[in-house]
Amino acid sequence: MKKKYVHIDQCETGYILADDVYDDRGLLIISKDTAIDDYIINKLDNFDIRQLCVYEDHQMDKKEIRKQYIEHLKKDYKKNVDDMKQLMCDLASGRKLEYERIKRISDSVYSEVRYMINVPEFMNVVKDIDEYTYKHSINVGIYAFLLAKWLGLEEEEIKNVVMTGILHDIGKAKVPVDILNKKGSLLPEEFEKIKEHTSIGYKLSLEIAQLSEEIREGILMHHENEDGSGYPSGLRGNEISKYAKIIAVADVYDALTSERAYKKRITPFEAFKEIIRIGYSKFDTRILMTFLSNIYRYYIGTLVRMSNGQIGQIVFISPEKISTPIVFLNGKYIDLSQMKYFKIEEVL
Ligand SMILES: [Fe+2]
Repeated sequence: MKKKYVHIDQCETGYILADDVYDDRGLLIISKDTAIDDYIINKLDNFDIRQLCVYEDHQMDKKEIRKQYIEHLKKDYKKNVDDMKQLMCDLASGRKLEYERIKRISDSVYSEVRYMINVPEFMNVVKDIDEYTYKHSINVGIYAFLLAKWLGLEEEEIKNVVMTGILHDIGKAKVPVDILNKKGSLLPEEFEKIKEHTSIGYKLSLEIAQLSEEIREGILMHHENEDGSGYPSGLRGNEISKYAKIIAVADVYDALTSERAYKKRITPFEAFKEIIRIGYSKFDTRILMTFLSNIYRYYIGTLVRMSNGQIGQIVFISPEKISTPIVFLNGKYIDLSQMKYFKIEEVL
């Protein structure tokens, strides 16, 4: 097959690499015969590679590229979850927290999510991966990225917010696993033990000089509520740091939409309803509204399984009624805000 050289700026998705690509130390980055997708372009860009050798008349079709792209993201995501697990297990067994390890995970999450076209769709792809605690840390980093971007934060701050998301529950490494994963309700003393994860996390963060005070406060205050009903200090409104307020919203959204040892996950639409119900007394209104008014848009066009088992498609979501979309089902448009018992069972 004929080969040609293309500059990365001219490289279209679908081209197939005709040669292996190495970094400047001679390590293989991407092997030949891989199709170019947005993920690969991003990776090459990170390694400052400008020229590529591709096959002249060989292209992968769009559907296949998309599949490969999701697989690449999934592989990196799994690696981040594994690294998070290793980091927390090491911490539990008395090893010190190392900044370089945190930074690697955080940088990886940042560069992945920057190129994700549809974050909720990706979260749905990885929903069956186990290991809630570690996965949750990565997911909160991902949602925190989105929220920070929607709030208009600068790049450096977005990176800090992602790192706060990844570290927010780091104190759980020192809480007994049987309490963390206990099915059924917790005894008051067990709940007290879990609540300690915020101040333990803060103490652990003090051991790392490179972490800013904003990141540390984000860890310490992510369970504080606007109305003063949170922990560890019962802070209110402006006493709670900006990062903590962002993490609080990202945290609850992931917790509600993820499967746990003791509870089933709920759909994003039930989660919107629940967050709005508890929302105004617990979360910063501006941050909550920014999150809700952006995240629901991703679900337009999504296929859903309804409570009668049939598959429909979400065709419209009114900004005023984000928990009850309009679904196209059996040739009809169904407004779920008018239905009492008919609802979305699962997002596909
Ligand atoms: Fe937490």
